[in-house]
Amino acid sequence: MSLLQAVPRRFVSQLFCALKSPASTRTKIHLTMTRPSSDMAAFRKFFAKAKHIVVISGAGVSAESGVPTFRGAGGYWRKWQAQDLATPHAFARNPSQVWEFYHYRREVMQSKDPNPGHLAIAECEARLHKQGRRVMVITQNIDELHRKAGTKNLLEIHGSLFKTRCTSCGAVAENYKSPICPALAGKGAPEPDAQDAGIPVEKLPRCEEAGCGGLLRPHVVWFGENLDPDVLEAVDRELALCDLCLVVGTSSVVYPAAMFAPQVSARGVPVAEFNMEMTPATNRFRFHFQGPCGTTLPEALAPHETEIAS
Ligand code: OAD
Repeated sequence: MSLLQAVPRRFVSQLFCALKSPASTRTKIHLTMTRPSSDMAAFRKFFAKAKHIVVISGAGVSAESGVPTFRGAGGYWRKWQAQDLATPHAFARNPSQVWEFYHYRREVMQSKDPNPGHLAIAECEARLHKQGRRVMVITQNIDELHRKAGTKNLLEIHGSLFKTRCTSCGAVAENYKSPICPALAGKGAPEPDAQDAGIPVEKLPRCEEAGCGGLLRPHVVWFGENLDPDVLEAVDRELALCDLCLVVGTSSVVYPAAMFAPQVSARGVPVAEFNMEMTPATNRFRFHFQGPCGTTLPEALAPHETEIAS
């Protein structure tokens, strides 16, 4: 049985937030509960031997690039959190407001660069690749900073801020325009008292496929929507094969990503969490390294003395 088949299908593919894992998931996955170690030398022994490393990342890996996380301070846009606006209902009710939110986030990213955490992961992938070893990043982030850092083996499971999908023809396209359409120029202010721009739907981003012109939406997975089954299959393969797993900068409350690392741990593979604080999943893991991952990751992923010079 594959790891992802160990839980009910609806928990596998649909995006949802839970402070605790769903009861039916808890009954089906038997997880070890021990206090994790913070012994970096012990982690480095596993790292030296690992042939296939999976890094599961969340918003915390981008925090030191100046990108606000979702559940910490700065997790609000106006008076809403991501769960309020990143939904198909919010888009159907007020597409202008949801586009303002994503336009704001796209514009913020124009001035952001990868930080030492992203770079340590990308450098590790390139170095280990030369040694016939594999690093795969599975990210919940839609900010493309892993890509910008040079990560090649990347699964962006929640999509990308810089891709659009047509609500009429379904065409998916890369889009780095700033602003994405003239009507959004200067809009999207995040302050709680900022006014809704109320942009007419025909002035919002529109599909450029010949003869279409349909309303575009961000190509991201919203709460209540399913993750791409092909991407989930690729995740499943990586989780089943890895011999070391790092879970970096995620609060581990949004599913299905929140169950990936605990499942790896349940089959006896060492999992190391890198976070500023404990999470609901911490006690499932072998290691927990507390602190900013821009500091802890470069140390954890630096060349090991046993690595063949490459
Ligand atoms: P959260 O904002 O829920 O969690 C960020 C985590 O990063 C927290 O556990 C912080 O303690 C940790 N953190 C913050 N700064 C850090 C640092 N410098 N080094 C290490 N850890 C740090 O973000 P996610 O878990 O990624 O979905 O959230 C998951 C999903 O919920 C997102 O993909 C998004 C959101 O709503 C959608 O929008 C669809």
